[in-house]
Amino acid sequence: MSDTILDIRNATKRFGGLTAVNEVSFTVRRGELLGIAGPNGSGKSTLFNILTRIPFGPTSGEVWFDGQRIDRMAAHRIAAMGLSRTFQKDVEFPDLTACETVGVAATYGKGLSRRDLRDAAEAALDLVEFDPGRRAMPTTDLSVYQRKQLMIASALVMDPRVLMLDEPASGLTRPEISVLEALLLKINATGITVILIEHVLSLLMAVSERLVVLNQGALLAEGPPSDVMKNPAVIEAYLGTRAA
Ligand SMILES: Nc1ncnc2c1ncn2[C@@H]1O[C@H](COP(=O)(O)OP(=O)(O)OP(=O)(O)O)[C@@H](O)[C@H]1O
Ligand SMILES: [Mg+2]
Repeated sequence: MSDTILDIRNATKRFGGLTAVNEVSFTVRRGELLGIAGPNGSGKSTLFNILTRIPFGPTSGEVWFDGQRIDRMAAHRIAAMGLSRTFQKDVEFPDLTACETVGVAATYGKGLSRRDLRDAAEAALDLVEFDPGRRAMPTTDLSVYQRKQLMIASALVMDPRVLMLDEPASGLTRPEISVLEALLLKINATGITVILIEHVLSLLMAVSERLVVLNQGALLAEGPPSDVMKNPAVIEAYLGTRAA
């Protein structure tokens, strides 16, 4: 079995005259926790869109998932193969309970019975340590952290081999970010490869084995987090000033 689970080759996404992701190539190792950093608008979320084809694939370039080319595949097939994502903006169904919300996600790409859906939803909610007393509540009554748990559970219920998280720490308090940090490490320790986009650099540095930095759609740096964050080009991209 190859060590590489994802191989992104010259991925490019254009919106009219704007190149949001520009010839980006890197690989993701099986089982690793890879962090993705970059200033606002650098193409991080677009990269997740390209990989999952939710809602669109690349303009050009190739994506290989566990030895299979997926950049022309239907999004639900990619999800069923085990590539699952969360979104930067919380997505919720106001009329559904927490458990039903995760159950809806489980219907995507899988033909489960109603009972199996419920069991799958409960298992995913257990994994993210969602309060059992709140699972029958409407999602509108949940806190910000509980909504994040719900979103992560909705991605986990697909039984992914690769879990991609887009800024899960945004809007959370410091103590909540610490809880999220432990949760991400726990999920990764179950054998799920994790790709984490995050602006909260303390979290990114704490959990990532490797970092990829994007800037203006291009790959700016890649490597061990402490090395990458010392890279003058990365400092300049973040602070907008040349490093001394
Ligand atoms: N659907 C779209 N149509 C047109 N332009 C888009 C679309 N999605 C993203 N863009 C543009 O592509 C560029 C990259 O956006 P993207 O959302 O990938 O950045 P990001 O790194 O995720 O930023 P942030 O940290 O703010 O979430 C931006 O200039 C953005 O305006
Ligand atoms: Mg984004």
